Amino acid sequence: MDIISSAQLMGMISTWRQGRGSLRRRLADCLRDVIERGDLAVGARLPPERTLGAHLGLSRTTVIGAYDLLRDEGWIRSWRGSGTFVAAPKGAQGHRDQLVAHLARNPLFSGLIDSPATTVDFAAASPGAAAPVADAARSAVADLTGHLRGHGYLTLGLPALRHAIAAHMSARALPTAEDEVLVTTGGQQAISLLITLYVEAADPVVVETPTYAGALDALRAAGARLFAIPAGEQGMRADDLRQMLARTRARLAYLTPSFNNPTGSVVPLETRRELARVANEFQATLVEDHTLAEIALDGAEPPPPIAAFGPDGSVVMVGSLSKLFWGGLRVGWVRAPRSVIRRLARVKAVADIASSLLPQLVATRLLPFADDVRAERRQELTARLDQLTSLLTELLPSWSWRRPAGGLSLWVRLPEGSGPDFAEVALRHGVAVVPGPHFCPDDGCHDRLRIPFCLDPGRLESGVRRLAHAWAAYRIATRVSTQPQHRTIV
Ligand SMILES: Cc1ncc(COP(=O)(O)O)c(C=O)c1O
Repeated sequence: MDIISSAQLMGMISTWRQGRGSLRRRLADCLRDVIERGDLAVGARLPPERTLGAHLGLSRTTVIGAYDLLRDEGWIRSWRGSGTFVAAPKGAQGHRDQLVAHLARNPLFSGLIDSPATTVDFAAASPGAAAPVADAARSAVADLTGHLRGHGYLTLGLPALRHAIAAHMSARALPTAEDEVLVTTGGQQAISLLITLYVEAADPVVVETPTYAGALDALRAAGARLFAIPAGEQGMRADDLRQMLARTRARLAYLTPSFNNPTGSVVPLETRRELARVANEFQATLVEDHTLAEIALDGAEPPPPIAAFGPDGSVVMVGSLSKLFWGGLRVGWVRAPRSVIRRLARVKAVADIASSLLPQLVATRLLPFADDVRAERRQELTARLDQLTSLLTELLPSWSWRRPAGGLSLWVRLPEGSGPDFAEVALRHGVAVVPGPHFCPDDGCHDRLRIPFCLDPGRLESGVRRLAHAWAAYRIATRVSTQPQHRTIV
């Protein structure tokens, strides 16, 4: 059972005063929203009235009034001597509720749904649209004309786009045919479709730690058991994969060898060869996520994909236009042997029948600009990384990091305290940042934060300044809270 502290709850209801009606009505409405959208799991225990009142600067009577309203409306239940708990909605299914509550705690995605506009958003690591996107979108409308007589459901993807993606991959040392490509609604759907095809509930799956949180959540939603291999400066090591596959008998591993999200690490050429060999030896499938591979910064380009060394199909790839061109296009793909693509298409048909046609036409026009946009992104993002590191050096000199070779974020180590607690304080100072454990399936990385550097320079600077204020407040509060009188973090 989850016990929610007042400090945690404060992070979820920071805007409660903006509601309407009496104080108790506003507080009750805000708590109801939090429960309704799944941020508080069924059975979670709410803080006692007196403690919550002290945190919110309210009398105990007002909190009792708010709890009374929620109880009358069936959102919470109280048991004398045990406390107040989130009630199960009518017809609730325990496992699903727990899962939705867990997913709602992923700040990457919940920030996209619930974040107020005034918050500086360091939660998403996705840049604004590249220069050619607007023009390509305008021209693509004309391309639509030729398709309007048909039904427009192209489950495998627009043939011209499949062709362009195959050419794009072939130019990156991975010869690819059009029928080895399935177009998806972003890289996230590519990951989800592969999981649907390969993973059954309770299956063991090997992942890196840290790794992309969206993949971890998709695996958890499928009921996978996760086995994590630490990914250091050079990503996953082949020996570690061999031992893990031998121990767990997992048939699937997910990895991001070309600019890990969040660390930016790159797996060296020889290790890639070896990882493909190990997958083949154990007849396991590697899902190689290439989503960030085009975002090289000041270092060299990453080596060819692992898939280039596993031509037998033991490596399937996820790709995306989100980071190079724009996330709003929602265009991604899977690159796999034809037989896998045919089976995946059946899964995709159930998920959404087909991806939207207009963004696919835009993407077809954009792919020929990939090299130019890559050079522009490199210049722009290297400058933002420099800006972020110099701001941090000036304003938060005790924080440390390793400069990433690519990707969109800095994986920062805090000198003390807890990343998740600090992230809540930061939110109250108007900046959303994702703490380490969201990227680490083994619940490690509590001393880490991921800070993306793709916001425009003004937002980036104000975000770091807010982080610095939040850090000062957090340190004072944690120092005081270790004193005998136990003041909590505000
Ligand atoms: C490694 C990785 N894979 C997949 C995705 C999902 O990207 P998309 O916007 O294409 O769905 C992301 C997004 O951040 C990512 O970092």
